[in-house]
Amino acid sequence: MREFPSAFKAWRKPIERKIDETLETNFDRDEANQIIKYMFKTGGKRCRPLLVALSTEALGGDAEKSLDAAAAIEIIHAATLVFDDLIDKGQVRRGVPTIHMAFSNEKAITSGLFLASKGVQLLANYRNPEMMRMVGSTLVDISKGELLDILSDVSASVNECVAIADLKTASLFGTASGIGAAIAGAEGRDLVAMQKFGRSSGMAFQVRDDMLDFDDGSNEATLSGPNIVTSHLLHEAPRPNNHSSLLNPKTRTTNRKILRVLKKAGSLEFAEERASGYADNAKESLRSVKRLRNRKILEEYADYLWKRKD
Ligand code: IPE
Ligand code: MG
Repeated sequence: MREFPSAFKAWRKPIERKIDETLETNFDRDEANQIIKYMFKTGGKRCRPLLVALSTEALGGDAEKSLDAAAAIEIIHAATLVFDDLIDKGQVRRGVPTIHMAFSNEKAITSGLFLASKGVQLLANYRNPEMMRMVGSTLVDISKGELLDILSDVSASVNECVAIADLKTASLFGTASGIGAAIAGAEGRDLVAMQKFGRSSGMAFQVRDDMLDFDDGSNEATLSGPNIVTSHLLHEAPRPNNHSSLLNPKTRTTNRKILRVLKKAGSLEFAEERASGYADNAKESLRSVKRLRNRKILEEYADYLWKRKD
């Protein structure tokens, strides 16, 4: 299950349509509309909005009704990518220039703020206080995670990496699942369990993401920040080691060399075990959900996240 399971693909078009609709005509000036739509022209896996729709569906709700929320979650995700790329001074995302490179820093910052706010506004239309509480906490979490990420570097410990991943990435997955469940009418313990499902799935996603950093042919982005794979190599690999110079961008070690060391030290294996462990935790959270009608699609979703190849 390295690709999106085909049962999930059906949601892609409706989600895409809803995002387009939402961002089509916010301004009278076409130039402004083009800038805020830029992040969506280049695709993306749409893992988070999919989780919203699947969570509603799995609890027997009408997933059509979750599409606005699904779009909102992806729009908020896009906002975080805008800021992440600015902070990392990233030049390319999904094979095209990042938004600040294509336009300007000022235009990128303003569209990032616009996108995050637009997402919150869409969610507010559901008039559900629990949904607002979840998205509020997540926006705080993401900002905290980003700041901690900036304050850390490649020498962060495994636990620090986990804490940052939980805030920066997993929190939004938790809210995606929680919001999907809320739309299906879940509350109380069921709602908490569904948030946990999403959050653990998000951890599986992020650990996999850290592993995939070593597959993309460049090691620039990889080595500038905390990453659970390199963290294992530096702090937890069995023999005492002097890998920090290897990981120093200044030494310009090739990706192949780093990959060889990571494999030998068992760091990729460690990360993969972690990722599948988080997916197991996610599935475990589902056990207590009373109104669950379709456990299998959520289990498949969690498994896809830790096995994915892109
Ligand atoms: C990238 O997220 C940012 C992280 C939290 C690692 P995705 O890998 O979901 O990005 P797209 O939307 O598919 O490009
Ligand atoms: Mg980054």
